[in-house]
Amino acid sequence: MSAAVSADRTVEILDDAEGVARRAADWLVETLLAGSGPAAVALSGGSTPRRLYQLLATSPWRERMPWPRIDWFWGDERFVPATHPDSNYRMADEALLSHVPVAPERVHPVPTAGLEPEQAAAAYEEALREFYGETALDPARPLFAATLLGLGGDGHTASLLPGTSVLEETRRWAAAVMEARPFRRITLTYPALNSSRELAFLVTGAAKRPVLQRLFAGGSGLPAERIRPVGRLRFFLDRAAA
Ligand code: 6PG
Repeated sequence: MSAAVSADRTVEILDDAEGVARRAADWLVETLLAGSGPAAVALSGGSTPRRLYQLLATSPWRERMPWPRIDWFWGDERFVPATHPDSNYRMADEALLSHVPVAPERVHPVPTAGLEPEQAAAAYEEALREFYGETALDPARPLFAATLLGLGGDGHTASLLPGTSVLEETRRWAAAVMEARPFRRITLTYPALNSSRELAFLVTGAAKRPVLQRLFAGGSGLPAERIRPVGRLRFFLDRAAA
């Protein structure tokens, strides 16, 4: 593993995707153990974090994680039923949450059943505000203790997709992305995602190398470039992506 630390981010390069998953599992547990009291995690969707989630349900991470005081949210969701194969909730539930001692009331999937996307976003935002306890985000008290994100080949993260109106949202914490295809999506906005004490991108595979190079060069205009957490920004990469 090699690491590069700059004023605004830490980049760690691991040998392979398994190494990224194991390093991210250590980082998440250590980050949550470093705090005390209730803490929220924003889970990433997509395929990259699946192995990380599987590891968290196994030793030693399972035994070290402070399950009783952690609430679990998602950075975004496809607007599909929770049982749909493309549901980010379903992936995390199957890989992690259904295997560990987390109380149902601490798991906060984006509600999609019986709602229109805008209603789902409003309901999800209400769940976030209820957890946080305030209606305004205080930079000194981030909403999330830890946020996980992936990176799309077009530079999107969560469902902050290029060219969508949600990129301009500065007030709401969650919003519907009606332009998304094949599924409409619900996503946390920049204000909510950036309200993170620790935020880590997990990016693996050679296909992601071009977008990472654009992102790290700066001035790319990519949606992921505007992810600037109030706390520490980390990238866990494998050699193929770096
Ligand atoms: C989603 C994610 C999305 C994902 C990237 C990377 O719902 O798909 O929120 O932002 O993290 O598209 O996806 P992979 O990990 O599958 O490459």
